[in-house]
Amino acid sequence: MTDKTAAKKLFIKTYGCQMNVYDSQRMAEAMGAEGYVLTEDQSEADMVLLNTCHIREKAAEKLYSDLGRLKPLKAERPDLKIGVAGCVAQAEGAEIQRRMPLVDLVVGPQAYHRLPAMVRNGGGVDTEFPVEDKFDHLPRPAATRRAPAAFLTVQEGCDKFCAFCVVPYTRGAEVSRPVSRIMAEARDLVARGVREITLLGQNVNGWHGQGEDGEWGFGRLIRALAGIHGLDRIRYTTSHPNDMADDLIEAHRLEPKLMPYLHLPVQSGSDRILRAMNRKHTADEYLRLIDRIRAARPDIMLTSDFIVGFPGETDEDHAATLRLVEEVGFGTAFSFKYSPRPGTPAYDRAEVDSDIADARLQELQALLSRQQKAAQEGMVGRELGVLFEKPGRLPGQMVGKSDYLHAVFVDAPQAKPGDLVRVRITHSAPNSLAGELLG
Ligand code: SAH
Ligand code: SF4
Ligand code: F3S
Repeated sequence: MTDKTAAKKLFIKTYGCQMNVYDSQRMAEAMGAEGYVLTEDQSEADMVLLNTCHIREKAAEKLYSDLGRLKPLKAERPDLKIGVAGCVAQAEGAEIQRRMPLVDLVVGPQAYHRLPAMVRNGGGVDTEFPVEDKFDHLPRPAATRRAPAAFLTVQEGCDKFCAFCVVPYTRGAEVSRPVSRIMAEARDLVARGVREITLLGQNVNGWHGQGEDGEWGFGRLIRALAGIHGLDRIRYTTSHPNDMADDLIEAHRLEPKLMPYLHLPVQSGSDRILRAMNRKHTADEYLRLIDRIRAARPDIMLTSDFIVGFPGETDEDHAATLRLVEEVGFGTAFSFKYSPRPGTPAYDRAEVDSDIADARLQELQALLSRQQKAAQEGMVGRELGVLFEKPGRLPGQMVGKSDYLHAVFVDAPQAKPGDLVRVRITHSAPNSLAGELLG
């Protein structure tokens, strides 16, 4: 065992998507086996690890501004180790060290299990896509996690090659983790007090695997997980519309543990743009899919991602996106201005005028926030489940997440984190709800 006082301190900063959040936890655990403990204070760290995102230019550039800010610390303490992980590490590799010599090691998302050895060896660059599964070589999720909700990556990588997107290059080909590993990790989490699991993957609903009774799709996996006693809520993200198979839609109809919430990125409402993006479905196909999902689970909340100003986008295309948003009615959605990414098919295409793209983004965001407000206000009077996560701001108050992921404040002096309760929603505030305990 490591002597606590002698433990080295690891500071991790995570950018980007939930998969990076999960990976950061797993890397922390791998480094824990090497005697490192996590710190929230970068200035006392023996090692700083930046787990990066490459999805848009701004996301990638954050790495370089953060590295710039680390220069004085490294000058003061030359033995401080600085590591870059994640999707920028994969995309730029050794270039990062050329641009920023203070970086000791660069490790791509599929090589995390080799991080401890790299640290022991003093650094290096590893952006291989190894044949072995990194998850098989990482320690099991640590007992120190106390939060009642956890992430579990079940699928990685992407074979869809949307024309704007770096993920197929930074994360590699689609890989599904085996059923047995997923079930074991889920049981492990539940044994440690977790009551809600969010299944993660870049195309999580494309997951498939070999169950004891043959080939399983993602809906079958959800039903198997729902059989775990003590696991009360299941969520998943992110899904591609073309992988919304019947068994998954059926799971939404039949499985009460599967939360009535679906993040289903559409990116655009224009068929011309969807084709140019290589999304492989039309706006109408998306709308018909939504009809089927809503028929199976009428109270489902839908959320999405949009890109505005994709090369070639006209006012007419933009109007089609607004029409689609009007027709669906989203609970909330992310919208981004298109960012050309090196190495992607759309990189060299003529860009939309930046001011026009900004104006379209504003218009779309205004519509989406009206819908978000309406959806949230529509919760008032409803009875929802709330999984308490921590004490609220006021004495006796708890805060947790509703079935729809809204933060809900409830007066519940007897309750503790991890309690799953029924609540009647009484008020809607800009970023949260308030409710009262039922029964
Ligand atoms: N796998 C998911 C999400 C991938 S990235 C999916 O298929 O939808 C998350 C979101 O970032 C995307 O849905 C998209 O809206 C946005 N995004 C990806 N590349 C982008 C780019 N080059 N410029 C702007 N937004 C981008
Ligand atoms: Fe990127 Fe498209 Fe794959 Fe999503 S489906 S990760 S947007 S390439
Ligand atoms: Fe970013 Fe990589 Fe996730 S590019 S969004 S961290 S998969």
